[in-house]
Amino acid sequence: MHYLITAGPTREALDPVRFLSNRSSGRMGFAIAQAAAAAGHRVTLISGPVSLATPAGVDRKNVVSAGDMMQAVSQALEGVDVAIHSAAVADFRPMQTAAQKMKKTGDALTVTFEPTQDILGSMRGPLAFKGLLVGFAAETENIIDNARGKLERKGCDLVVANDVSRSETGFDSPDNEVTLVFRGGEVRPLPRMSKLEIARELVKICGTLSPHPTPLSE
Ligand code: CTP
Repeated sequence: MHYLITAGPTREALDPVRFLSNRSSGRMGFAIAQAAAAAGHRVTLISGPVSLATPAGVDRKNVVSAGDMMQAVSQALEGVDVAIHSAAVADFRPMQTAAQKMKKTGDALTVTFEPTQDILGSMRGPLAFKGLLVGFAAETENIIDNARGKLERKGCDLVVANDVSRSETGFDSPDNEVTLVFRGGEVRPLPRMSKLEIARELVKICGTLSPHPTPLSE
């Protein structure tokens, strides 16, 4: 099978030297790429800026902004069977990017942000993806309800939910504790384990699921 995996943060530029980003390390997505390649799958990994080595046998494409990631995903989708969106894509970008470094004036600075495109949310619509679709939901409250809402809105087959308010798991940690929320209604909490163990489990589960490429709301 051919896997497409997004990973890491994106950076949205304010000027040539400054950007808005987030705390994603990319570890979870890279672990999934590693596990999928080790299981014999073809893997395309689309990564935001991270300091991680490319897992063996993985075809990696580096991107910077949410716009770049959207373009890279749409260009790589041909022939993909399973798409796993673990990237922490910026939801907003500055409406204007200054061509030169912005100088301080002593006054307050107001920046207006505009929404970026939702890559996962475009998969079933404009990108017409018919394969198995897996999203991630990083939440700080009402984890399962929020994850189910995302699954339904974005037409996913499975959402991997995690509680990022906990410091021992989450962003830069080697471990994670996630709950799998399936399209059919099943909710399956996994015990705390390494991101690589979770990735292996996820790849195994993806091999047992069939895609339902229609949004639940339709
Ligand atoms: N995602 C994406 N493109 C975006 C934003 C998010 O592909 N511009 C994907 C992420 O990779 C992840 C999922 O959507 O798989 C969840 O992202 P999140 O930002 O938490 O979801 P939202 O629906 O934007 O909800 P909210 O920000 O309100 O929590």
